[in-house]
Amino acid sequence: MNASELLNNGEVVAVPTETVYGLAASLKHPKAIEKIYLLKGRPANNPLIIHVSSVRDVVPFVKQLPPEFESLTAAFWPGPLTLVVPIISETIPTVARAGLQTAAFRAPKHPLAQEVIAKTGPLVMPSANLSGKPSATTAEHVKEDFGADFPVLDGGPCVQGMESTVMRYHENQWEIIRLGCIAAEEIEIVLGYVPRYTQGDGKKPACPGQLYRHYAPKAKLHLTRHFSKNMKTIIGYEGRVYPEGSRTFILGENIKEILANLYATLRRLDQEGIQEAWVDLNVSDGGQWVTLVERLTKASNNN
Ligand code: TXA
Ligand code: MG
Repeated sequence: MNASELLNNGEVVAVPTETVYGLAASLKHPKAIEKIYLLKGRPANNPLIIHVSSVRDVVPFVKQLPPEFESLTAAFWPGPLTLVVPIISETIPTVARAGLQTAAFRAPKHPLAQEVIAKTGPLVMPSANLSGKPSATTAEHVKEDFGADFPVLDGGPCVQGMESTVMRYHENQWEIIRLGCIAAEEIEIVLGYVPRYTQGDGKKPACPGQLYRHYAPKAKLHLTRHFSKNMKTIIGYEGRVYPEGSRTFILGENIKEILANLYATLRRLDQEGIQEAWVDLNVSDGGQWVTLVERLTKASNNN
């Protein structure tokens, strides 16, 4: 059976997207959705993103689309922007939305993901990694976490290598609730204001997933602006020299390339049995650099 047949049969399959690989299940199969939580070790209160072909697929689930929903999707779909909207709750299995009255939607850009969704209808897809680990950006990464026999539709390495940006409409404004591969400044061009990044408050997190340990390799990561001789493994950038390190991983030259290589590099540390690494934190402000620093900060909080 191919990927869409497996999904239509109620199986879980890993599917490539332009951001990261997703662990897919059909919205029509709540049992398969439950299996995703078990496979990942994902807390039940962390809802999933529903992947669709276009805005037309979102309409049956919602009471009313928030203002500027259509301008945002016209600018960024298909692509790495996820929008959280209030829904008609009985239209979406409780397990997929973790009991919330909202759901997150995105139309992926990867041709294989699009082809599968065209044959299956909407698919939930969290990133295809064990909860807490760096996301999977190749089919091999998925197999590393879920076993060599796990069904993966291999679409090669993900172009972006970084998750989608997640937004919600709250108190008359769109806000970013998970940083991702689209920067706030790019969204400003559509909205006319820079969407602020919020985590909500402790009692009511804006994005439940932000509560959990994330993106972390087994290796201990230290973020630093100054290097010294005891720092044996260094993660840095093209065009710089790191004479202190005996082993250096170069993420790339520009931010797009750096984000694309981040998770694969964090996984490499564990593959090579490296226990400690120092990451160069001399980076620019603004744009996608904000996402890089946030991911590195989370990845370094692993013990
Ligand atoms: O790029 C991506 O977004 C990838 C690919 C596979 O599409 N998917 C992904 O899914 O990163 P996941 O499950 O790893 O992260 C989804 C995030 C979680 O932090 C979750 O809490 C949040 O989206 N989320 C989902 N539904 C939500 C909702 N109704 N309200 C607030 N946050 C929501
Ligand atoms: Mg994830």
